[in-house]
Amino acid sequence: MCGILVYIGDRDPYEVICNGLKAVEYRGYDSVGVYAGKIFKKVGDVDSFLKNLDRNLSMPIIAHTRWATHGKVEDKNAHPHEYGDVILVHNGTVDLPPFPNLKSDTDSERIAAYLDNMEGSFLDRLKNLNLNGTYALVIFYKKDKDKLYFAKKDTPLIIGIGNNEMFLSSDIAAFIDYTTKYIRLEDGDYGYITKNEYKIYNKGMEVKREIKEYDKKQDAKKGNFPHFMLKEIHDQLELLPEIISQKIPEDVFDILKNNRIDVIAAGSSYNAGLFIKYLTNYDLSVYISSEYSYLMRNPEYLLAISQSGETLDTIKAVKLAKSKGAKIISITNYLGSTLASLSDFIIPLGVGIEKGVAATKTFFSTILVGYKLINKINIEKIRAAILEGMNKNVEVIDQDSKIFFLGKGINYPIALEGALKFKELVYCHAEGLPAGEMKHGPLSLFDKQAYVLFIKSEDSIYNYEEIKARGARVNLIDFSNEYSQISTLVYFQRLAYHNAVYRNQDPDKPRFLAKSVTVE
Ligand code: G6P
Repeated sequence: MCGILVYIGDRDPYEVICNGLKAVEYRGYDSVGVYAGKIFKKVGDVDSFLKNLDRNLSMPIIAHTRWATHGKVEDKNAHPHEYGDVILVHNGTVDLPPFPNLKSDTDSERIAAYLDNMEGSFLDRLKNLNLNGTYALVIFYKKDKDKLYFAKKDTPLIIGIGNNEMFLSSDIAAFIDYTTKYIRLEDGDYGYITKNEYKIYNKGMEVKREIKEYDKKQDAKKGNFPHFMLKEIHDQLELLPEIISQKIPEDVFDILKNNRIDVIAAGSSYNAGLFIKYLTNYDLSVYISSEYSYLMRNPEYLLAISQSGETLDTIKAVKLAKSKGAKIISITNYLGSTLASLSDFIIPLGVGIEKGVAATKTFFSTILVGYKLINKINIEKIRAAILEGMNKNVEVIDQDSKIFFLGKGINYPIALEGALKFKELVYCHAEGLPAGEMKHGPLSLFDKQAYVLFIKSEDSIYNYEEIKARGARVNLIDFSNEYSQISTLVYFQRLAYHNAVYRNQDPDKPRFLAKSVTVE
């Protein structure tokens, strides 16, 4: 997963690069690179790259933030890659044999070599591009200097349309300060942009794609918060009326209530799916997206949960179920996403852009879908529950501890989410477990080195005593309001945030992770 930002126009190249790269950095941030007359590329984050970037830049701009898939995190593997007359950036992964004289270990440079070796006009080469894998590609062809070519399959690529200027990017956020008009390219699309026009083709035919207008209200700014994550935890309170006002289509209520539904999701969205199952008691079978193809049994309905709407594992599972005739219901924060475009019904999350890599407000809004389904929404009580979670003291947990998050029943998915947040941000091993299951193995670990976050409920108290008897340190999570799972969630989010900050780790950009995982 990587971030692409491409520009042709008259603006100051340095300014466009700064704005755009910072906006897509959340997609991958182990190396950064730019082609703007010359190639500059380096391992490290966007800020340090920009500090050292030569200001003498020329148009067009092709910029990229990398999250390594093929080849280690080294300067030579950063994008753009140049081979012969081709300079390109790539997001995705492809299988291609090696070519002579490659300078990197990446699959992306092989694409550059492959394109360079093809015959015919560049558009013909893109038409005949037969790559096994996924790609969003932007290419500068040295023999065609006023155009930037592109091609897309299975990972996002968006054209931003300005006045006498054009952008291509993985995310609208990269150009939103300059234009709100955009086109989301579809699989198999290829073509080019110049300063004044764009052309899109698919299978040899020119195609028209809908121009959409982005609602700027969704713009993400950090304000006075030191990190986006902290702001986004607070957004759960600020945006509560907005989240509650997001409607579930009437048909969806009936479908979810009266049918057996397969639910697929990854990461936090999976935990949210499990939470909705416990809360509603509907006939939901919840699967991890990347495992679904092994277990699928021709469902009539599939509920896909993905805040980004771009997670490749989820998109692939949706396409598979759709090919077998399933109707797709999605829960997503991005109405313009690939997932949304594949869906028959959409439940919007409506929380604006979430920048922190680890999901917070999108998870919160997803579990509120569960409360909406069972008509249990009391805004004042939910607000009070969030505040309780905000006000409980968080403690610094010793890094050498064995950390467990335990909960029973509906608290189990919250325990999973607590452990996931802690792993993502604090880089400590943490395990989320159903409280009753710990006596079937994990209990052997519960000595003085263990630190257990135990979510109290009436039916879990025996397990609490069993743990205490073994000498583990226990932090009893004991919120007793009607929405105690929300209080616990907010507390766990803050626990991970503060422990990460205490260790001088950036909670917005945890190492090795990315927000939108568009590779398998
Ligand atoms: C990545 C993110 C997680 C997220 C997961 C699923 O791993 O780091 O925070 O939960 O993807 O993302 P999705 O957009 O499909 O909800």
